[in-house]
Amino acid sequence: MKVLIVGGGGREHALAWKCAQSTRVDAVFVAPGNAGTALEPKVRNVAIEADDVEALTSFAAGERIDLTIVGPEAPLVAGITERFGAAGLLCFGPGRAGARLEGSKGFAKDFLTRHHIPTAAYRRFTRDDFDPQYLLGCRLPIVVKADGLAAGKGVVICETHQQVLEVAERMLGGAFGAAGEAIVVEEFLQGEEVSFIVLASGRTALPLASSQDHKRRDDGDRGPNTGGMGAYSPAPLVTPALHARIMREVIQPTLYGLHADGIAYTGFLYAGLMIAPDGTPNVLEFNCRLGDPETQPIMMRLQSDLPSLCEAAIAGDLARAEVSWDPRAAVGVVVAATGYPDAYPKGERITGLEAAARLPGKIFHAGTTLRGDQVLTNGGRVLCAVGLGSTVSSAQRQAYALVEAIHWDSMQYRRDIGHRALARGA
Ligand code: AMP
Ligand code: GLY
Repeated sequence: MKVLIVGGGGREHALAWKCAQSTRVDAVFVAPGNAGTALEPKVRNVAIEADDVEALTSFAAGERIDLTIVGPEAPLVAGITERFGAAGLLCFGPGRAGARLEGSKGFAKDFLTRHHIPTAAYRRFTRDDFDPQYLLGCRLPIVVKADGLAAGKGVVICETHQQVLEVAERMLGGAFGAAGEAIVVEEFLQGEEVSFIVLASGRTALPLASSQDHKRRDDGDRGPNTGGMGAYSPAPLVTPALHARIMREVIQPTLYGLHADGIAYTGFLYAGLMIAPDGTPNVLEFNCRLGDPETQPIMMRLQSDLPSLCEAAIAGDLARAEVSWDPRAAVGVVVAATGYPDAYPKGERITGLEAAARLPGKIFHAGTTLRGDQVLTNGGRVLCAVGLGSTVSSAQRQAYALVEAIHWDSMQYRRDIGHRALARGA
């Protein structure tokens, strides 16, 4: 069979690598891909951007692609699944209505409340009904969120009332374009975050291995928020009891709620959770896709055939599907360009990749491109080095040995990926 992966980051490299391992798969195409996918056996890049739904549809129809897996949210929110369906093509990912869980934070909050799923108290505002007096009466800190997709930059944790007003007015004033036409203002939640991702098919969910992301740029969880500087799986915080509670209080009510609202949801569903000190799994956000970089360690541990799992979900056969995991821990360290998440240099030559390829573990590419046979940096998050080990600490050592084998002038990375798991003795 032929598989198409839509996207060009580290998550998509991991998906392409995993699909290429399937004995059922003859060829994997990645649109647009990166240097890592270009160099992967059985995998070929296609020069089409991930949000060019029309060009992707023509390509998939022309190549007779059997299964398309969509990495990023933008094409899902834009309706790629319906477009592929209309062309008779199988596309794994929710339709537009389901993707609104990620595409509109206000929609997601109303959904959560309507279906009694734990989440922070909130209010929605547009420019027309903005109420500064209400905000001045809220307890600090307050979290202000742009309603629409803002590439991870639309959330600000405000420590003073003045900052709340400034941020809210800046968002509603157009600083985030259409994403800020409405905002959500919500209570700040205490606790520890986990990423809980399931394969969903209607009311049936197959949970993937748990994981934890490191959102802040610098060691000790300091510095600006990023798309994620590293992740590991499993998350020791998610004990069997907490796992059962998340399924019961978050995942099942979400899938039943979607069904009750008339939304057929097939695809990955990512619940970003804040686990409160009393164990309550509060939903911070939904994503209608896999996480990046969570996917890289998760795919390292997945032993089952990924295309078959996606096909089973599309066919409504997920209840009978089984998934098996490598029992070892996987730790993924993101290597970024200095300056990320703000301005950073591009086009720097990366050396040491061949030496790293001889070491245990795996380097997934994100922001890289090929010039001749040279691999150049081409984005903020450049690589993700993933190690496996019987303990988090041995997986971490393997990941950092990979990082130390590679070099470019402006590389930066966190040295403490996995610290929460290590603190739990994992
Ligand atoms: P979101 O895109 O909604 O997940 O927000 C990005 C990040 O902001 C989350 O991963 C959290 O670290 C933080 N965050 C969002 N909402 C809250 C909240 N209500 N309380 C505390 N932290 C939050
Ligand atoms: N790592 C967080 C995300 O993919 O949204």
